[in-house]
Amino acid sequence: MSAPVLDPYDHQLQVDPYPTYARLRRESPLYHNAENDFWVLSRHADIAAALRADEAYSNRMGVSLDATAWNEHAHTVMSFLALDPPEQTRLRRLVSRGFTARRVALLEPQIQRITAHYLDQALAGGGTSSFDWIARVAGTVPMDVISEMLGVPESDRSELRRLADLLVAREHGIRDVPAAGIEASLVLFDYYRAHVAQRHRRPTDDLTSALLSTELEGDRMTDDEVVAFLFLMVVAGNETTTKLLGNALYHLTARPALRDEVLDDPSLVPAWVEETLRYDASTQFVARYLAEDVLLHGVTAPAGSPLLLALGSANRDEAVFAEPDRYDLHRPPKELAQILSFGGGRHFCLGANLARLEARVVLSALLARVRAIEVDHTGCTRFYSANVRGFATVPVTVEVR
Ligand code: HEM
Repeated sequence: MSAPVLDPYDHQLQVDPYPTYARLRRESPLYHNAENDFWVLSRHADIAAALRADEAYSNRMGVSLDATAWNEHAHTVMSFLALDPPEQTRLRRLVSRGFTARRVALLEPQIQRITAHYLDQALAGGGTSSFDWIARVAGTVPMDVISEMLGVPESDRSELRRLADLLVAREHGIRDVPAAGIEASLVLFDYYRAHVAQRHRRPTDDLTSALLSTELEGDRMTDDEVVAFLFLMVVAGNETTTKLLGNALYHLTARPALRDEVLDDPSLVPAWVEETLRYDASTQFVARYLAEDVLLHGVTAPAGSPLLLALGSANRDEAVFAEPDRYDLHRPPKELAQILSFGGGRHFCLGANLARLEARVVLSALLARVRAIEVDHTGCTRFYSANVRGFATVPVTVEVR
């Protein structure tokens, strides 16, 4: 049998990467893709350790293989996702107060209002309604929640959603950054620059104003750092949450007995969210650059190499999860605590609480409004991306209560 090959840009792999991950975990746990010269870790234990060993595994070059191409557009890498300590530590401390569990929980009524707005529109006909879950709900709520937090006026929000979608639309090879995405990022930067200037003049109670006024031991963020952070929220928090909402509906409805169980018992929603995060993580990989040689399983990856941590593979590692390829809403908390979909260590997702809350609110609101849900699984189209996993369209038919 030939050696396993992992090319995250291969559409064939993106249809179902899990058998390839399983072979890598077994046969080549520190895998080298010789053609494109990058390395991959696929076992849970190795990835969990690498996420914490940030001196050897640097974020400095950006967080995906094509981040090297994005790096040529300097404005996109000013955020701390692409920094190491001590700069990352400083900026993360300055913003983290806006993302504590308590602060995020206070957003629930706003998330409910935004969700109700889009569900009202999608279900307006009453009776039986058919619509694209991504276009009408999953693809709209996350960006509007970010806009709400930042204090972006409602009249600008649909344009910001359009720009955010352009950032992620891509059909390209490893170093090929789409012009429309670069253009959209520049427009978003200009927008946020103007928004920050406005909040300087007239502060409100939004997150933008809070970021501008936060002071820790005499230290503040510069305006450029605040702008870069607002942009980072979009890059990190929009598409990922949209894909989580799409994956959740897709996988649940593919199992009618489970779907009926959740329709009967909405208290299963948190388990539904967690198992979707594990089973089909919307972020499949994060990238690192090796600051030193790494020797694992008898193989040495040399300093200076790019390396992917295959989070989606870690979540299916049989050493941690019983029957990892089963979508199971009754996993023990001990297992669920091992999910690596939000990364780990110093760069652990700042928006994890927010993403979970959004998913719970949106999915609970859907259950409260419908008595039956069917997805046309053959009509779903995959969103092809080297590290974000999910659907471009999920056609759904529901019976409104
Ligand atoms: C970092 C996943 C939603 C903000 C990360 C990382 C992962 C991740 C894997 C670590 C990257 C690395 O180690 O290099 C996800 C997933 C989400 C989600 C799967 C949804 C299902 C959000 C949301 C926000 C957000 C809603 C905020 C609006 C961030 C930020 C970082 C980050 C700011 C950088 C943290 C740092 O570098 O210190 N996310 N994310 N994320 N995420 Fe999320």
